[in-house]
Amino acid sequence: MTCFAGVLLVGAPYLPTLSPQVNAALKLADLKSGDTLLELGCGDGKVVLAAAKEGYRVVGYELNPIMAAIAWLRTLRYRKLVTIRCADFWRQSWPPAQAIFVFLLPKYMTKLDTKVMQQYPGGVKVVSFAFTIPDKPVQTTVDGVFLYIYK
Ligand SMILES: C[S@@+](CC[C@H](N)C(=O)[O-])C[C@H]1O[C@@H](n2cnc3c(N)ncnc32)[C@H](O)[C@@H]1O
Repeated sequence: MTCFAGVLLVGAPYLPTLSPQVNAALKLADLKSGDTLLELGCGDGKVVLAAAKEGYRVVGYELNPIMAAIAWLRTLRYRKLVTIRCADFWRQSWPPAQAIFVFLLPKYMTKLDTKVMQQYPGGVKVVSFAFTIPDKPVQTTVDGVFLYIYK
């Protein structure tokens, strides 16, 4: 219980992305085999697993150790492609990636925008379920999933 309450201090609580939105997110990310998807707050690993099944490398950060353990166990078969890090993603240096998936809360979207620009000066795609980035034009929207292109 403490793990779930503690997450509320620094981020969105756990809620899973629904399967149609997971499919939409991967389609919008438009990755090639061997590309890396970074998931900020990977919860139980649902999106990580779907991405690994497509042959993508995936790095998932998850603050809640219970959810991180579930995500790690759930993706064990894809150990060569998947890295689960139990950490606060705001306090990390993010790994090279071609796309980032998030399902956060509106109050974190500006902070996300700032950190994405700092971490990926060469550009990256950001795919966000449910919430938009203030003052940033959306490239495409599918089923409530928003694609942003940073150049
Ligand atoms: C709304 S859930 C989304 C879960 C998963 N991404 C999905 O779409 O199914 C947000 C997740 O982010 C995690 N989280 C929130 N803030 C975080 C932070 N600063 N660092 C790491 N994980 C965080 C929460 O514990 C929760 O599991």
